[in-house]
Amino acid sequence: MSKTVLIATDKPFAKAAVDGIRNVLDAAGYRLALLEGYTNPQALRDAVADVDAMIVRSDLVSADVLAAAKNLKIVVRAGAGYDNVDCAAATATNVVVMNTPGQNANAVAELAFGLMLQLARKKYTGKAGTELRGKTIGIHAFGAVGRCVATIAKGFGMRIVAHDPFISPDAIARLGVEVVDSVEALYSQSDYLSLHIPANDKTKNSIGHALLSQMPKGAMLVNTARKEVIDEAGLVQVMKEREDFRYATDVMPACDAELKSFADERYFATAKKMGAQTAEANIQAGIAAANQIVAFFEKGDLTFKVN
Ligand code: 3PG
Repeated sequence: MSKTVLIATDKPFAKAAVDGIRNVLDAAGYRLALLEGYTNPQALRDAVADVDAMIVRSDLVSADVLAAAKNLKIVVRAGAGYDNVDCAAATATNVVVMNTPGQNANAVAELAFGLMLQLARKKYTGKAGTELRGKTIGIHAFGAVGRCVATIAKGFGMRIVAHDPFISPDAIARLGVEVVDSVEALYSQSDYLSLHIPANDKTKNSIGHALLSQMPKGAMLVNTARKEVIDEAGLVQVMKEREDFRYATDVMPACDAELKSFADERYFATAKKMGAQTAEANIQAGIAAANQIVAFFEKGDLTFKVN
């Protein structure tokens, strides 16, 4: 029977990505429903009422949304982090949750360097900045984004160190990256620290004063992961104690106004999360999501299921 697939994106995909998704769904005989740029969560609850599948980005798929979606069988988060989906509630209502790992990794990694340059070059105000070449970059978590960051860092001539207890040291070392066996060792030698850990119960608020204050003089924390992993009180304390410390982030912290008030030159946050916001990443992640939905309904394929 024909299925209806809703694309629900508060931050819309590039048009080419929506067209690509439509092509995949048309070929399968499925119907596409589109809810873009909505501001009211009620709009999402209304839109899910009759759909069989959903493609979302960072959109909040709460227990309420799942309860309103009586026919829903699958939610695909077009992206890597699925902390925006209530996986326990999905499991309880027999809804499969998937992500599309790696599809937007390069886009996020490129933005990490954009953020580094933004502050290294003093926000392009005309003042002399510093170069990335010869500096040490620490990569905290060596998944798809971390690997792309390492590849780009080589081009900048940086020394690269990484820590990821879930990936074999050999696999990291094979890419020419030095492995460090503790987070403390990682932070204490990183001039630039690029964060790629997921947000979960173990990582939330885990990056705070104890780790950040160990970073070398002039260090920069670069966050293209999630704001929830930062202990903001600890971050503010380090930024106040150390006039050399810099923070660049793609996820605006709650303490944005406070940091701007005393550290505007060494703090930068994008107005809206932009890491995965490229045409290429939208097309790759969106089309992967559509293909995963069709494979799920037609063949029972559960690759990339996360709940
Ligand atoms: C991800 O987890 O893939 C990124 O954070 C992308 O998020 P976005 O789809 O909201 O841009």
